Amino acid sequence: MYFEYKLNIIIFDSGLGGLLFYNQIKRIIPYSNYFYIFDNIGFPYGNKNKSYIINRIIKITNSVCALNKIDLIIIACNTASILALSKLRKLLNYPIIGVLPAIKMATKLTYNNCICLLATNNTIHSTYISKIKRKLSYKYKIILTPSMQLVYLAERILQGSCLSMTPLYKIFSLWKRNNIPDTIILGCTHFSLFTLNLLHFLDRKIIVDSSIVTINFILKFIKKNINYNQNNEYVHDKAYCVSLTKKTKSLITILKYHGFKSLNIINI
Ligand code: DGL
Repeated sequence: MYFEYKLNIIIFDSGLGGLLFYNQIKRIIPYSNYFYIFDNIGFPYGNKNKSYIINRIIKITNSVCALNKIDLIIIACNTASILALSKLRKLLNYPIIGVLPAIKMATKLTYNNCICLLATNNTIHSTYISKIKRKLSYKYKIILTPSMQLVYLAERILQGSCLSMTPLYKIFSLWKRNNIPDTIILGCTHFSLFTLNLLHFLDRKIIVDSSIVTINFILKFIKKNINYNQNNEYVHDKAYCVSLTKKTKSLITILKYHGFKSLNIINI
């Protein structure tokens, strides 16, 4: 199933994890123009402070919005969404949707009411998550597992490196041995990369990918809030980063593989 909306959509992440989100949404909304932004200097956001993250997102997205007519901004980063979404909505004059850990969906799917959230340090230690955990504690046990190591691992694999999955299996083997948790939430867009590894290694667990849950929400949001009859002319999807380092130059082939015609630099 796909939708014919012809919108101009920004997808923002700190790194390349948002490309996994882009691939998913592009399949469902194929005729929109996508502007993929990654903050290759600020990466990773999972261990940076809130005001640093907010300032960077504001400056970077404003620069891209000044060059293109944008209909929707998607923050394809759980960390940035948790720390910055409400502020971004006040400061940027565009509809903004964030990818957030799909805890509600996990509570609907769990059998033994024990759920694990796998996410960055900032997400795990946020007040947003501790409030939800407290609210649900009458019925659900929520285990919080931070891992920046998996963020770096995913980023490097997305950049084309072949790396050992040992750190991943070290974390997962804790869960393999016992029954709890029965449901694992991927609360970082980079972690969608590990979905198949998880399904294979933990064959009887339920894996909840927050990105996929958010796409359903985005479809409802577009239907309700955006004039989707608008016919933006089709331009090729563009990628943006903040500095063209030697490492970033080597990403051009990978970005082309994902469907981007160009990698542009934003001066902030
Ligand atoms: N992709 C980001 C997220 O969903 C995290 C990566 C980072 O730490 O920058 O949280």
